[in-house]
Amino acid sequence: MEALKTPPITPFESTAASARYIPALPSLSLSMLADTSRAPLAFPFNAPSVNFAYFARNSVWTLARMFELFRGEVLVPAYHHGVEVEALIDAGVTPRFYPVGPRMEVDPDDVARRVRSKTRALYLIHFLGFPGPVDAFQSLADRHGLFFIEDCALSLFSRRGDQPLGTFGDAAVFSLYKTLPIPNGGALVLNRDSPRGLPTLPEPPAASTLSHLAASWLQGLEFRHGALGKAVRGALRTLGRGAVKQSGVERVATGTQHFAREHARLGMSAISRRVAASQDVPGIIERRRRNYFFLQSRLRDLGPALIPELTAGVCPLFFPLAVEDKARTQRQLRLRGVETVDFWRYGHPACLPGEFPDVEQLRRRVLEIPIHQDLTPEQMSFVARAIHEVLRR
Ligand SMILES: Cc1ncc(COP(=O)(O)O)c(C=O)c1O
Repeated sequence: MEALKTPPITPFESTAASARYIPALPSLSLSMLADTSRAPLAFPFNAPSVNFAYFARNSVWTLARMFELFRGEVLVPAYHHGVEVEALIDAGVTPRFYPVGPRMEVDPDDVARRVRSKTRALYLIHFLGFPGPVDAFQSLADRHGLFFIEDCALSLFSRRGDQPLGTFGDAAVFSLYKTLPIPNGGALVLNRDSPRGLPTLPEPPAASTLSHLAASWLQGLEFRHGALGKAVRGALRTLGRGAVKQSGVERVATGTQHFAREHARLGMSAISRRVAASQDVPGIIERRRRNYFFLQSRLRDLGPALIPELTAGVCPLFFPLAVEDKARTQRQLRLRGVETVDFWRYGHPACLPGEFPDVEQLRRRVLEIPIHQDLTPEQMSFVARAIHEVLRR
């Protein structure tokens, strides 16, 4: 999902760049492709009613059509990615936005006041893996006869207590490739329906999948083998780009801001399923939590954490760092080898500027710092030092 990450460093800047490389996302290794062991499947892979897609936006679109949400309005958080809103609108839905507080909190009473006769569904995003107010949303939905949809694009493997996120609502969508080193993958889980009428979606073009696999493997090469890996990655990337251009391969990009109807019925690749099935899920959760805790304690002197507590069961996607000059911080960290994500700088234009000042602050200030499963305590220590250096300047 290259489109989400830091803009590349120019050749001039790269001479000053660090030999270290800390990618924003986990990368693929060849051993994952060779691994034929099958770990017990975790939710949502083992859900009784699940439909896999190329990415989560397809699942949002499919769900909106299946629940016939085009007949009315859906209450959506003003703090959103944008592509989920675009998929809803493409499916004929009218989104109505509700506020999100300065710590990414949602006030269910405020949401309740926005329900009106046209409302058909409540849409809750679990930000960065942290559970939203599922119980209050469930009872609000029950009271008014609404669908309750959980957007778990950022919260794969997260739980509220013992219960996985994505099992509270009528349905949930997941973006699998944000947490796992797979080239594509989204999932739609139906908790009260069977996936009747939901076809198995066709494989994406093999050449496109292969090109994403290669990009992730090359990223891992640079991450694991320093300067040598970087040189090999640079050379192979140039060759690969040329080959992709010449062969006319249609590369279906992930991590972009936009929903494309022509990709709406694209499925998840078999190789993504295979790699996903071989992952050590408890290990992923444990390492993400450990890295998050580590960063939180090492950055305490920079001010209060945006989200005060990593509650039990949360599998965090990134560490949210609030900064004054996001573009500069991102660039300075990249020069030190730390790749970050400016995930939600812009929302969907249907959400009018000026209406949600807290959300605008979040969009302006929050930078996502990597804490993924590939990173060791030593690498997290490097990340913390880099942040201190950049922010103390
Ligand atoms: C909250 C949310 N929902 C849905 C999506 C769409 O995910 P995908 O890229 O898998 O289509 C995103 C993408 O970042 C997102 O942040």
